[in-house]
Amino acid sequence: MISLQDLMTKACSDAFAACGLDPSYGRVNVSNRPDLCEYQCNGAMAAAKAARRNPLEIAEAVAEKLKESGLFASAEAVRPGFINLNASPEAAADLLNELAELPDFGVGKPGAGKTVILDYGGANVAKPLHVGHLRSAIIGESLKRLYRFMGYDAIGDVHLGDWGLQMGLIIEAVKDAQPDLPYFDPDFTGEYPAEAPFTIGDLETIYPAASARAKTDEEFSERAHQATLRLQQGDRGYQALFQHVLRVSKADLKKNYDALDVHFELWKGESDVQPYIADMLADFERQGIMEESEGARVIPVARPDDTKEVPPCLVQKSDGAYLYATTDLATIVEREKLYHPAEIFYVTDKRQNMHFEQVFRAARLAGIVPEETVLSHLGFGTMNGKDGKPFKTRSGGVLRLEYLLKEVKDAVYARMAETDLPEEEKQATAGVIGLAALKYGDLSNQATKDYVFDLDRFSSFEGNTGPYILYTAVRIRSILRKVREQGIAAGPIRPAQGPAEKALQLALLKAGQALTDAFAEKAPHRLCQFIYELSDLFSAFYRDNHILKEEDAARKSGWIRLLELAERELVTFCGLLGFGIPERM
Ligand code: ARG
Repeated sequence: MISLQDLMTKACSDAFAACGLDPSYGRVNVSNRPDLCEYQCNGAMAAAKAARRNPLEIAEAVAEKLKESGLFASAEAVRPGFINLNASPEAAADLLNELAELPDFGVGKPGAGKTVILDYGGANVAKPLHVGHLRSAIIGESLKRLYRFMGYDAIGDVHLGDWGLQMGLIIEAVKDAQPDLPYFDPDFTGEYPAEAPFTIGDLETIYPAASARAKTDEEFSERAHQATLRLQQGDRGYQALFQHVLRVSKADLKKNYDALDVHFELWKGESDVQPYIADMLADFERQGIMEESEGARVIPVARPDDTKEVPPCLVQKSDGAYLYATTDLATIVEREKLYHPAEIFYVTDKRQNMHFEQVFRAARLAGIVPEETVLSHLGFGTMNGKDGKPFKTRSGGVLRLEYLLKEVKDAVYARMAETDLPEEEKQATAGVIGLAALKYGDLSNQATKDYVFDLDRFSSFEGNTGPYILYTAVRIRSILRKVREQGIAAGPIRPAQGPAEKALQLALLKAGQALTDAFAEKAPHRLCQFIYELSDLFSAFYRDNHILKEEDAARKSGWIRLLELAERELVTFCGLLGFGIPERM
């Protein structure tokens, strides 16, 4: 990877060694006092303690050695033993010119040859989407793109919740409304109709009504349970009806995910792994890892060194029914069999943390996957409204993704008052910016934390927001267009002359590190931090330098290459966050 920080660390380590000290003291960090210096090395303090020497003397000796390296414009020892470092503008420019040639910013392909399955859909068939599904989709899609960037073969699986009581409720409700349909005739042996007896609109009213009815109407609730069981045992008519529910729901879900620019390679669901369950349980039995507990079957997964209680993993209820953990385990069986992935990665609400802990432990005990296979889970926090409670759309109640996207788009559109874009383009652009506002608003927070959905803030064109980032990228593009119109071509990036140019150059050099960190921590917010800083630094640079009016041709050409690199970094990072950049705005 190309990293000025790494090169500086290497130089400092060598300098410590040359002073007879351990090279590990040479670690260089980005300065936390940018007013004093760009980078710093604090190793002299620890080295002094270990060697019982004076830290300032060590810092001075090391700083002296650093003068021989071409990397630093200055290396200064200050009390009590810090080494303040500034990069040599020539060295920075050389590195930038190297970086500008690399399509992957020098991160390489650490995932080459490996498959990862990302499970970040989880929508429930026939049930409305909830805010948790929105977050899984946004965070999961971003991470999938990041895995791909790292060279993985990344497979996204929507893993629909399609195997619960909701199916029985729908079947019974349809039966009550249209009892003459062939699905309910046990003697029917012909072909079932190809057309579903309901639309997605119907399903959206059927399910909540049936669910409410089951709460007060015991007879109906019992029938729904029976219907669920019959369906799961393979009843032909019910299966045919179930396939209609699946088809209609999937088509609608796909529309919703498409609108979010979220895409899945696999459209599987809990129902797909039912065929694996019996064998899997028999295998647990054979291995002796399963126990009877009050008629139910569980896999104890607690460990002696647990700091909190980890209850047994429940895989079969006393009435024979399978549970959430059962399908998740069977899904791992299937994924191992079909894809033999290096990693399976789940993105869900953090309230499911314990569930995945139990499932992973059970999977390990049963040896469902080889030891080296990584099973990991990212549990994210809740998206709250301004009232601090889980978010609801203005229309209240459950999340209708279309409405949410429309609300964000309208908020953005309202802020585009002064643009002179033709109406049609303005509408389309508001849609593109709106998606960025929504996704960036989510992804700029550390995923595990709760955050407040603040439409005013998210849609603002200023501050740490998606629209601000897009605005910066669009501005860079427009400048590039104009200098190209002046007939000027890009040339080598030149050593920075002013502080704003230097700061922008150093920031651009950190792209590879930002990508690597974001990936290692599974943290899209690191990508956001990077492009936010870059955008601010670009603005400052642009304020200080009149690119279009610059007369020094070599300088101007160097700036073009610098801007091209900035544009490419913004485009890449926005793409990894899951949104695009409009032509104009
Ligand atoms: N359907 C679940 C829900 O709505 C989420 C599924 C997440 N994925 C998984 N493999 N368990 O909460």
